[in-house]
Amino acid sequence: MENLYKSFEVAGRWLPVLHGLTAEFPQQSITVILGKSGCGKTTLLRILAGFEPWDSGQVTVPAQGKIGMVFQEPRLMPWLTVWKNITFGVKKPDAEAIHRLLELTGLTGFHKAYPSQLSGGMQQRAALARALAYDPKLILMDEPFAALDHFTREAMQNELIQIYSLQKKCIVFVTHSIDEALLIGQKILILNQGGAAQEYHLSEYAYPRDLLSPQMIEMKKSILAAIKQQKE
Ligand SMILES: Nc1ncnc2c1ncn2[C@@H]1O[C@H](COP(=O)(O)OP(=O)(O)O)[C@@H](O)[C@H]1O
Ligand SMILES: [Mg+2]
Repeated sequence: MENLYKSFEVAGRWLPVLHGLTAEFPQQSITVILGKSGCGKTTLLRILAGFEPWDSGQVTVPAQGKIGMVFQEPRLMPWLTVWKNITFGVKKPDAEAIHRLLELTGLTGFHKAYPSQLSGGMQQRAALARALAYDPKLILMDEPFAALDHFTREAMQNELIQIYSLQKKCIVFVTHSIDEALLIGQKILILNQGGAAQEYHLSEYAYPRDLLSPQMIEMKKSILAAIKQQKE
C-alpha cells in the first residue's frame, strides 16, 4: 500500500485513522502489524481484504487474489460440522487435501465434531484450516490468538510457524502483543498515529525464537520505546 489515507465520519466529525501509510507485505513471509488498540490495525486488514473503501492512495493485492481471513473469534457456523465449516466456501473440496489440512492443523479425527464440542484453541485451528482450504495467496489474521489462554496461545504460535514453513504464503498478522510479534514476525511494522512508525526485519532469526536471547530483548526494548512515543 502506498500513501494510504483513511478516515471515518463519527458523529459529524472526521476521525483520521490511516494517514499516508506506505507498507509492503512480501510474498512467502509473515508480516506483523503491531500497534495499540484503536490505531487502525483492523481497518488496515479490512482495506487489504477489500471490505473497506479508503480515501486516497494505492492498494495492490495479488492478481486472482484469493484471500483467507482469520479473526479473533473463530466465526464458525455452529450448525455445521468441522468438515462442513472448512469446506463451506470451496467449490469442489478434495477430500484428501482436506484430510491433509486437518492433519496440518491438528484436527485429525475431529471432522465430524461440531464447533461447540471443541476447545477454543481447536475452534481457532478449524478457522485457520478454513482459511487455508481456499488455497489463498494472502492470509489476513486479526489478533487470531488474543482470546486464548497463555499456553494454548503459545502452542498456536508454534503451529502457525510450522504450517507456514510447509505452506509459505503471504501472511499479514495483526497483534498488540510485542512478544507474539517477535516470535512469529519476519517483518514487524509498527503502526503509529496512522503511519508506519518503524519496521523491524527478523528473517535472519530462525524459528523457534528465544525471547530471552540478547537480540530479542534488545529488539523488544526498542519496540517498547517506539510504541511509548505514541499518544493514546
Ligand atoms: N466503521 C467505523 N466507523 C467509525 N469509526 C470506526 C469504524 N471502524 C473503526 N473506527 C475507528 O477507527 C479507529 C481504528 O479502529 P481499528 O482499525 O478497529 O483499530 P485496531 O484494530 O487497531 O484496534 C478507532 O478509533 C475506531 O473507533
Ligand atoms: Mg482490531
